[in-house]
Amino acid sequence: MGENPVLTTVFALLYYVAFAIFAGGIAYRIYEYARTPAPLKIPTTPAPTTRAGVVWRMFKEVLFFESLWKGNKWIWIFAQLFHASLWLILIRHARYFIDPVPTLVTLAQPFGKYAAITFVLGALGLLARRIFVPRVRYISAPSDYLMLLMFLGIGISGISMTFVSPVDVVGVKAFFLGLITFNWQPLPSSPNLLIHLGLVALWMIIFPFSKLLHAPGVFFSPTRNQVDNPREKRHVAAWALELERKESA
Ligand code: HEM
Repeated sequence: MGENPVLTTVFALLYYVAFAIFAGGIAYRIYEYARTPAPLKIPTTPAPTTRAGVVWRMFKEVLFFESLWKGNKWIWIFAQLFHASLWLILIRHARYFIDPVPTLVTLAQPFGKYAAITFVLGALGLLARRIFVPRVRYISAPSDYLMLLMFLGIGISGISMTFVSPVDVVGVKAFFLGLITFNWQPLPSSPNLLIHLGLVALWMIIFPFSKLLHAPGVFFSPTRNQVDNPREKRHVAAWALELERKESA
């Protein structure tokens, strides 16, 4: 199992546990969100009057943060830098888990590499916002800062591997494909890789218990996902419908 079997075993087990919490936790949260009643008709107006309109609104909100754009331009810039870079980085990282590497992932490689810099700049901007804007500092909890520091740690350790002290990426891929196929392979033991992977595991473990849930959560936000049609169609909450049914029975 290579030169450091203990390290390989620790990270292999860590990643099985982290993935189970990440995937199981998010699935459970989505199940909870889907079952939570939304008794009131409260789309933020002006809102679309058709289902297709809502899909379009959601698309603009999720990819371009439309409401943040309307609210605050400079936070929008840092939020976009952070999230758009994250997309590129994640697409670029797919090469560690998929063999052969899909064309889209190959095409993303050169951009994904520099997305590391914009990712860190975005996270720094969002951190500065929490530290220097009094009304944001007032509502910031320790976890808000720690979350950004965790992302900075992931980004900076990533940059160190890509631009400063390269690691055995072929070995990294073999390790992760080995985890997926239950045929463990040794993990390269470069310190920057171990820091990177340790922080990524932490990210996966806290995801289902933290504000990071805004990613799946946005789709369940009644102010964003409702059609503005209370004049055409009477809005009745599910529990009220049930009451009506019982009363008329
Ligand atoms: C298990 C998951 C992950 C593995 C195996 C992994 C592994 C790696 C490796 C080997 C590199 C160096 C690439 C090179 O030398 O060309 C790297 C770079 C990087 N990683 Fe990760 N990483 C993971 C998850 C993440 C996540 C979730 C993020 C962001 C939140 C991230 C952000 C970065 C960044 C910004 C870089 C530098 C730019 C780049 O080369 O893409 N990584 N990662």
